[in-house]
Amino acid sequence: MITDTLFDITKASESRIADVDLDAPGFGREFADHMLEMEYRDGQWQQPEIKPFGSIEITPALNALHYAQSVFEGTKAYYVDGSTINLFRVQKNYERMARSCERMCIPTIEKDIFIEGIKELIRLDHQWVPEKEGNTLYIRPFACAFDPIISARVAEQYRFYIITSPVGSYYERPVKLTTTQQYVRAVKGGVGAAKTAGNYAASLYPAQQAKKEGFDQVLWLDAEEHTYVEEVGTMNIFFVIDGVLVTPSLRGTILPGVTRDSIIELAKHWDMPVEERRISIEEVMQAGKDDKLEEVFGAGTAAVVAPVEEVHHDGQSVTFDIDGRGPVGQKFYKAITDIQYGKAEDPFDWIASVKID
Ligand code: COI
Repeated sequence: MITDTLFDITKASESRIADVDLDAPGFGREFADHMLEMEYRDGQWQQPEIKPFGSIEITPALNALHYAQSVFEGTKAYYVDGSTINLFRVQKNYERMARSCERMCIPTIEKDIFIEGIKELIRLDHQWVPEKEGNTLYIRPFACAFDPIISARVAEQYRFYIITSPVGSYYERPVKLTTTQQYVRAVKGGVGAAKTAGNYAASLYPAQQAKKEGFDQVLWLDAEEHTYVEEVGTMNIFFVIDGVLVTPSLRGTILPGVTRDSIIELAKHWDMPVEERRISIEEVMQAGKDDKLEEVFGAGTAAVVAPVEEVHHDGQSVTFDIDGRGPVGQKFYKAITDIQYGKAEDPFDWIASVKID
């Protein structure tokens, strides 16, 4: 039962911030002083608590560990100045989390708990938001089954957490992608559109194989025909072909990325030709051969706008001689990060500012 004060708050007696280098935090390795925790039992979510970040006790029988009934989100907080921290499109993250929860049979979390919980954590841990441009405080809300039973059934108990982590770049350099004919990420009717743990677990072995061959990630193709490009798993994918921005259409198998959506909105706002459609890997490779493939980049909250240096398919490669983003990727990166860091107008109302006293 949620009472009229949204959160019970217990503050950390001492901050751990002095032990962390916010200029070079890596990715997902350090965690800010507080976290939100909420239990689901007896058919309802209980009063959420904000408390010091720390380990949780679990039984080895915990069903989430065995059957992956688990969903998560990723969003970031951006340092503007000593009194303002910006959040970017958290409403979209909430909506996606609600859809992921529904697909994974996890009881819906109230919007206020999700959004106000993030804001309250930012107010408490605002000093953990790195000031260095490009670094941010990554926010990871997640929910998972919490029954102490190894039975593959919809759980009766759950936990919802929000933890935050100062981060730098997810990819330090342009990425090399390869397709695979052997493995798939998602099938129609499956869980590809949900941000659920199993999608990431399933991608690890193919990604490891790709790494052995010198690539950073797999560029996933559709599961039925192994023909159409889908996404990268850690990010969505964009091609610039003959001046047109093309990205695979969402067909239930692709994660509907917030950065993906922002790029499409910006392109439309700028009257830049943009197409969301099926795009075959043959079309991409042919455009490369014809010198019409001008740029390839990935887009995601963690990756932001990540340049692609190589697309490899069926023994052939299209390569780009780059050490950073191309002009189109850079234009989107700058527009999005300028809005996020409060350096540019926000015509889309994407920003929620958190004021620090
Ligand atoms: C994100 O972009 O926020 C993600 O969750 C992707 C993950 C690979 C870090």
